[in-house]
Amino acid sequence: MASAVFSSDPSSRVTPEGVVRAHDERFMAEARREAERGRGRTSPNPVVGALIVDEDACEEDGVPRVLSRGHHILAERDHAEVAALRPLGGRAPGKTLYVTLEPCNHVGRTGRCTDAILAAGITRVVCGMRDPNPHVQGGGIARLRAAGIAVVVGVQEAACQAQNRGFVRAMTEGRPQILLKAALSLDGRIAPLRAERPLAEAAPIWLSSAAARVMAHRLRASSDAILVGVGTVLADDPQLTVRLPASDSAALASRPLRVVLDSHLRTPHSAKLVGPGTLIVAGSSALAAKPERVESLRRHGCEVIGVDTATGEEDFLDLRSVLSALCQRGIQDVLCEGGATLHGRLVAAGLADEAALFVAPLFLGDRGVPLLAGLSVPTLSVAPWLSDVEVQRLGPDLFLRGTLRRGPYRPSEPERIVDALSLSRSANPSDTTPPQPSRIERKGEG
Ligand SMILES: NC(=O)c1ccc[n+]([C@@H]2O[C@H](COP(=O)([O-])OP(=O)(O)OC[C@H]3O[C@@H](n4cnc5c(N)ncnc54)[C@H](OP(=O)(O)O)[C@@H]3O)[C@@H](O)[C@H]2O)c1
Repeated sequence: MASAVFSSDPSSRVTPEGVVRAHDERFMAEARREAERGRGRTSPNPVVGALIVDEDACEEDGVPRVLSRGHHILAERDHAEVAALRPLGGRAPGKTLYVTLEPCNHVGRTGRCTDAILAAGITRVVCGMRDPNPHVQGGGIARLRAAGIAVVVGVQEAACQAQNRGFVRAMTEGRPQILLKAALSLDGRIAPLRAERPLAEAAPIWLSSAAARVMAHRLRASSDAILVGVGTVLADDPQLTVRLPASDSAALASRPLRVVLDSHLRTPHSAKLVGPGTLIVAGSSALAAKPERVESLRRHGCEVIGVDTATGEEDFLDLRSVLSALCQRGIQDVLCEGGATLHGRLVAAGLADEAALFVAPLFLGDRGVPLLAGLSVPTLSVAPWLSDVEVQRLGPDLFLRGTLRRGPYRPSEPERIVDALSLSRSANPSDTTPPQPSRIERKGEG
């Protein structure tokens, strides 16, 4: 947000985007938490949360009273603002609306949120961020301001943008956000070297603990699609489904699309992931040359599409074309589960945005499969690295999640250390119990 000067009310500050009050940050954080309740169920829309607050009525602790909350779930259609107004019968005269994203001012699947806000009699609107959709940007804010509503924009803007990374990327770059996920050994290997073998003998190798696998399934649940190269299908025969106990709130999320990059249509129909909910992306020439394979995969429930291969490389699909095709289907958050070749090429092309790595306490030696095959790093100055790292202990494993960067490496302290690495361990040195995973189905892991 632009630099601020202080108004005559010492608890508020005036910015070019409106007067920010002392409690605005707190309520925006609460609206962001509310938004998370829709995670995995809003695509192709963003997650959005809203709060209706009575700034004239305070709770005992002196904080203004929250009257209602709402979040967006695509299937239930209502945008977060309308969902928050519903318990109040659509009426909230003189009240304040906190909303993580600019209210819409166009008619799509639903009516205009600006209409609902004006009809409710809301007098102040605090927005986290403008809508990055070029067809919407600023329209909602302008209409509310023109109607005399006090609108503040940009409260916790960076956090609101980060919450909808996939949506922002899709709107501004026409491709989804890519999160690389892998389990690896202490020496950076994702599997031991293995000879080619029939699919019937393929089996996942579990490098990480049960606690780590629960987290991995949650990552799947919060993604629109899970992407793998055909090499992983042939080696591991994964299901790529979300398998969490019903009690896990992430289990509510919709089923992510399974996507296989398969230039030459090598995916066998006996593969576990062959069936409805799977998209096989083949090379355009293979699609034309192997109609019987295409037909057979379609008969088994898969969708098959063709994209061009990368220039001069008939074994590799053009990644930008693949990602643009996924974006056009409304996919905004992709979890890429490997393997080595696909991870390496995504990083080399600058198309990997984040990484989630489960580091297991074992070594696989220099003949093991590397995390990023084919990536050449001639100097430290061009080495990809992770910033804003979150570190978590999951059983015996370390979980690291961060944003992928290129350019001068600037090591820093992790943003957030969760669990026993420091605080809880020092608070209770005798407690060495790892976090207990919830039970997940183990059959056909992967
Ligand atoms: N520990 C973990 O978390 C983890 C996770 C997954 C996999 N793995 C391991 O990784 C290994 C498999 O890795 P891999 O490198 O052999 O295979 P991969 O990366 O899964 O698949 C690579 C293949 O995908 C196809 N492909 C099409 N377009 C591509 C593109 N633009 N970029 C990259 N690939 C493209 C190519 O085959 P076509 O030419 O036939 O299309 C390519 O050879 C296995 O050992 C598996 O166990 C480990």
